[in-house]
Amino acid sequence: MSHPFSFEVQACCSQTKARVGLFHTPHGWVETPRFMPVGTLANVKTLTPAHLKDAGAQMVLSNTYHLHLQPGEKIVAGAGGLHRFMGWDGPMLTDSGGFQVFSLSQIRTITEEGVTFRSPHDGKIINFTPERSIQIQNELGADVIMAFDECPPYPASREAVLKATERTQRWLGRCINAHQRTDQALFGIVQGGIYADLREKAAQELVEFDLPGYAIGGVSVGEPVTLIEKIVQVTTPILPFNKPRYLMGVGTYREMAQAIAAGVDLFDCVIPTRLARHGAALIKGERLNLKNAQFREDFQPLDETCPCYTCQNFSRAYISHLIRAKELLGYTLISIHNVTELIRFTQRIRDAILNHRFADEFQFWLSSAPNSEA
Ligand code: GUN
Ligand code: ZN
Repeated sequence: MSHPFSFEVQACCSQTKARVGLFHTPHGWVETPRFMPVGTLANVKTLTPAHLKDAGAQMVLSNTYHLHLQPGEKIVAGAGGLHRFMGWDGPMLTDSGGFQVFSLSQIRTITEEGVTFRSPHDGKIINFTPERSIQIQNELGADVIMAFDECPPYPASREAVLKATERTQRWLGRCINAHQRTDQALFGIVQGGIYADLREKAAQELVEFDLPGYAIGGVSVGEPVTLIEKIVQVTTPILPFNKPRYLMGVGTYREMAQAIAAGVDLFDCVIPTRLARHGAALIKGERLNLKNAQFREDFQPLDETCPCYTCQNFSRAYISHLIRAKELLGYTLISIHNVTELIRFTQRIRDAILNHRFADEFQFWLSSAPNSEA
């Protein structure tokens, strides 16, 4: 396989920059735009790969940071790689660990060399460098691997963001040098915080590397959600048309619709499974809290228009009962629905673009009012 990765734009919206694409990987293709469920520790919480297939998942994420700590990349590699280890034979992506070290670990020092932190499991000092992250991701074996980046916090001064963004660019060069496998595509990540000029400069420099795909990182870190749209709008025009674009950590309806209108293809977010663990179901952009008394005797499905296994077979009353009793099946049933719902949202947008109805049909989400959280 000389070119295991390719991205074809199959259709474009005439009123926005939205596009429909097909991303080919060694484990099959991904129809874009598409939401990707997050399987942090080599599983999407409470769901089996069969559930994920039924939910319409085509590409699943996992995390270098978490898998390095537990069970360790040697064990995953020993199983034959991440796909075999977790029983998912479709496309997979691993995040590099940079973002997770910054957001999840306590004691850390950041230098030009890399990041040092303490394992939350046993307190051991761990060192992540661009080389180490890529080596671990080579061992894990996902189809797409991510550059090791520094995601500045919000708020941060322009100076601090500039420093992190420039370091991320230097680290990218080291990631590319360390990358050993031709059956894995290394995506670069645009940082730059809320500063349009820094975003533009970072994107321009990144494109020079002629990578198989590009991500927009450093959003959804506490900034007002309306800024996400602006950041995406200044960045996407600089990224190559014929490569996939991935907006990291975003999975809300309005932000996905607006990012797709700006030309983004891929999304991930822990929202659907995290909400499920709190007993909340996503219904047409709203959140139903199944613990509320009103659902105890509500014998309708979560969403009567939803084709998912949960909505076809169970009532709100039953799921409410399971959640109140803390029965594990309750979390699985809501997760099946929530993951299906977000993937269907992106699939409906895909269909709308193909039928030249995107700008009309998604007017509600494309209008610029800020998000209601959903
Ligand atoms: N996930 C969400 N945002 C980011 C980011 O900025 N960098 C990385 N590596 N992962 C992310
Ligand atoms: Zn459903």
